[in-house]
Amino acid sequence: MKIVITGANGMLAKSVIKRFENEELILTDVKELDITDSEAVQTFIRNNKPDVIINCAAYTAVDKAEEALEIARKINADGPKNLAIAAKNNNCILVHISTDYVFGGNLPLNEVYSEEDPKAPETVYGVTKLEGEKNIEENTKEYYIFRTAWLYGDGNNFVRTMSKVALGKKDFPKEERFVTVVADQHGSPTYAVDLAEYIYEALEKEIPYGIYHATNGGFTTWYEFTKEIYKILGIECEVRPVTTKEFPRPAKRPTNSKLSKEKLEKTGINILKWQDALKRYLESDIFGVQL
Ligand SMILES: NC(=O)c1ccc[n+]([C@@H]2O[C@H](COP(=O)([O-])OP(=O)(O)OC[C@H]3O[C@@H](n4cnc5c(N)ncnc54)[C@H](OP(=O)(O)O)[C@@H]3O)[C@@H](O)[C@H]2O)c1
Repeated sequence: MKIVITGANGMLAKSVIKRFENEELILTDVKELDITDSEAVQTFIRNNKPDVIINCAAYTAVDKAEEALEIARKINADGPKNLAIAAKNNNCILVHISTDYVFGGNLPLNEVYSEEDPKAPETVYGVTKLEGEKNIEENTKEYYIFRTAWLYGDGNNFVRTMSKVALGKKDFPKEERFVTVVADQHGSPTYAVDLAEYIYEALEKEIPYGIYHATNGGFTTWYEFTKEIYKILGIECEVRPVTTKEFPRPAKRPTNSKLSKEKLEKTGINILKWQDALKRYLESDIFGVQL
């Protein structure tokens, strides 16, 4: 399989590249292929004739996006449109990554979002990512859109940040060895290696085209997630719960980000549990913290 990977320096891209290392890969970062440049995209795909494009490029700075609608829209909405048109014109499959932020995040906590549930993004990031999904659906038929959430892997991410914070406090007196973490946002952490595996299996099994929720299995809160990180690492640092209200951010965070993975699971792809994924991540050699 000949595969073009866009945004190849990003966090997810690194895991995708590793999973697909036995294929013929054409890696592009923004310098080699700016996905917002429609002409460049058409020419690049026509000249390279890949079987698959995996779009790992995105504008992912959720808070900054609130003040950067134009650029976020270019990258998250126009870019996928350019890739979809190129994919259609050159008979190749487009794989794209979307997000839980396309939903409003206000569903009762005993409910989960299915792929078809009404969309109501409340952030610039979410709005532009939803526009990207629609642009793909309108411009090509052979696509996979994987909505993921709470992604971590080989790059700056929540797990590394919280680990570093706690390790930085390890010589503090006990009463000062604590962190505060939001405890009223619910979702599924997702290890980039596992998302890359889902993508690999989707292509290998040729599952039906369409939109799939693709996170690790099970649900938690950032608070519980942090406790699990410290438990696995054996770090002694108290985790104190706070509410979203006590920790305001420029972009509104969804309370309920619980995505149902039933559709993906029904294709025969094994949904891997978030606790096991976290353990594998913390044991892997890509974790940047010295214990
Ligand atoms: N991270 C999460 O928690 C999360 C959650 C849900 C969904 N997602 C989705 O998952 C996907 C992968 O996320 P990630 O965390 O791996 O992202 P990331 O690390 O921010 O990587 C995105 C990459 O896209 C590149 N890029 C930006 N503009 C570009 C352009 N015009 N043309 C080509 N490349 C461009 C960036 O390059 P520069 O750095 O040089 O700008 C960067 O290397 C994204 O679609 C994201 O929306 C992520």
